[in-house]
Amino acid sequence: MGKYRDVWQRSIDDPAGFWGEAAKGIDWFREPNIVLEDSKAPIYSWFPDGELNTCFNALDRHVRDGRGDQLALIYDSPVSATKTSYTYSALRDEVALFAGVLDELGVNKGDRVVIYMPMIPQAVIAMLACARLGAVHSVVFGGFASHELALRIEDATPKVVVSASCGIEVSRVIDYKPLLDAALAESKHKPAHTVIYQRPQVQATLEPGRDVDWDEAMQKARPVDCVSVNGDDPLYILYTSGTTGRPKGVVRDNAGHAVALHWTMQNVYDTQPGEVFWAASDVGWVVGHSYIVYAPLLAGCTTLLYEGKPVGTPDAGAYWRVIAEYGVKTLFTAPTGFRAIKREDPEGSMLDQYDLSKFRYLFLAGERLDPETYTWASELLGVPVVDHWWQTETGWPIASNMMGLEPMPAKPGSPTVPVPGFDVRIFDESGVEVPEGREGLIMIRTPLPPGCMSHVWGDDDKFFDTYLRQSPGFYLTGDGGHFDEDGYLFVMGRVDDVINVAGHRLSTGEVEEILASHPDVAECAVIGVADDLKGQVPRGLVVLKAGVDRDPQVIGAELVQLVRDQLGAVVCLRQVDVIGALPKTRSGKVLRKSMRAMADGVDIPVPSTIDNPSTLEALRPVLAKS
Ligand code: COA
Ligand code: AMP
Repeated sequence: MGKYRDVWQRSIDDPAGFWGEAAKGIDWFREPNIVLEDSKAPIYSWFPDGELNTCFNALDRHVRDGRGDQLALIYDSPVSATKTSYTYSALRDEVALFAGVLDELGVNKGDRVVIYMPMIPQAVIAMLACARLGAVHSVVFGGFASHELALRIEDATPKVVVSASCGIEVSRVIDYKPLLDAALAESKHKPAHTVIYQRPQVQATLEPGRDVDWDEAMQKARPVDCVSVNGDDPLYILYTSGTTGRPKGVVRDNAGHAVALHWTMQNVYDTQPGEVFWAASDVGWVVGHSYIVYAPLLAGCTTLLYEGKPVGTPDAGAYWRVIAEYGVKTLFTAPTGFRAIKREDPEGSMLDQYDLSKFRYLFLAGERLDPETYTWASELLGVPVVDHWWQTETGWPIASNMMGLEPMPAKPGSPTVPVPGFDVRIFDESGVEVPEGREGLIMIRTPLPPGCMSHVWGDDDKFFDTYLRQSPGFYLTGDGGHFDEDGYLFVMGRVDDVINVAGHRLSTGEVEEILASHPDVAECAVIGVADDLKGQVPRGLVVLKAGVDRDPQVIGAELVQLVRDQLGAVVCLRQVDVIGALPKTRSGKVLRKSMRAMADGVDIPVPSTIDNPSTLEALRPVLAKS
């Protein structure tokens, strides 16, 4: 661990020196004099007086430096039977033109643009066009329903919303425009315009004056050049689930983000310019932002946008087909995708049809990598399978096996070691650091390295209150875990009400808020229970208002549908049970942890603070059935 240890130590002892050097990987319009601004600690900012443009770094500079004819983006869509690709020159031209469309619609530096798109190149083009103008994009995952979209539109107050006529889920076509129209009707904030990309599968109805057709606008547009922004100006807002019912807008700056992501491509992912990097995620999630769009392009790689699933589009060999067809060196996805492949093709026999000779690494993140899936994938693929841990808030890995710096022996169940820049500690509930081997709350000493969230959109105090208040000088990750005697970190799961369903981060609080809005529901609880394929799935438990005598099964089905309509199918809430009472402590706190353990068949002691032990016991038969 010699080289890794030295580099990590230097990043902690001299963060400004370390990241000042990494900043040389980025082109600046004005070099920063200040690397780390700490006068407002514990709120820090990186490269605040530097000037740059993220889109210039992702596209224009590569064209300038001779990569114009190299592929920047490959789009492979089994669900629409489409394959296209863009060279760096072509992508730069499309982005400059779409920046012209936004400019024409009045979008200026600092204005927000919400992007609600399926996995099509126009989503990437819209993101980069915002960056080009210094506008702030906020991409909303296409699987979210109208209400979720409305919440984000209301919070980000965009001038324009960019969307498409439809998404395609395997063979089901999802009309986006009615969802967007419903969100715009619900939101108190009304953007001046929408831009709609009409896909061949569905022709959306446009409202004259407000809705603009993507193709028509592009035909009339003039290309726009990159606008210079300050290092700490926001690049994007990405909403994520927290412990409350309302998602919070994680804000990412331009300079820290570009410097950090560029640095990870070599050091974490061992990926060089010109190589093909594939993050099989969605542009609506942080992995999609960082490793479909920005990092591969900042590093001059070819990135892959895949509109399909690991299975069913058309079969469990889909990932192997894509890797072989485009010479992918590095695949990054969530463990659940591999569990899906394993379930359909346990012997991995589909692999025999494909030439994976260029494939070097499989990186997995988004949820805990169970040792069984790790072993299956390692044995099948014969390449390093790298578990790495990160969060929307950090935007890049906190712990990983550093394949470009110094590969280490893997330990199944561990994302290996803290990445340089992250000083990770384990604390007990009272804020005292615990010795190695002991489980506790995973904290990170501040300042966080560049590229991590700078603040919560629209609420200056929320970043401090949510993440920094608990232990001064440390960031609360919300995950629990421990270090072993070799300094390997083990991340065991969330200690709050966030759950991970198929690598998608969701808040049980948000689901509870929807259940509670049903007229028959007096109170409710939602817990995440273990699932073989998706890691976790939510289960709902509701207590009905006195006097309600409707069929509990009908109410349960209504509640499942309500969550699907309001939050989206992606939540995968399939079961809501009507129960007599919720188990609570004497102070009224619902005992979610005890219920979760009971559902997972794990024996944990009943808390001494329980008010009425029989309420918990009564749930045993309910929670035992799935
Ligand atoms: N738009 C609309 N609906 C969407 C959607 C989108 N972008 N994404 C998912 N959904 C819907 C699905 O159609 C499904 O609906 P259904 O209940 O009517 O079938 C539901 O949301 C759940 O979707 P999903 O979680 O994708 O489950 P699945 O059963 O269709 O597929 C896997 C299971 C494992 C194949 C799938 O979850 C997967 O590919 N996971 C990879 C994880 C990943 O990429 N994570 C990103 C973080 S790195
Ligand atoms: P998201 O913000 O969607 O990236 O989700 C972040 C959460 O996913 C983390 O707080 C963890 O709970 C979980 N997570 C991500 N990667 C890993 C990993 N490699 N091991 C364990 N949990 C992970």
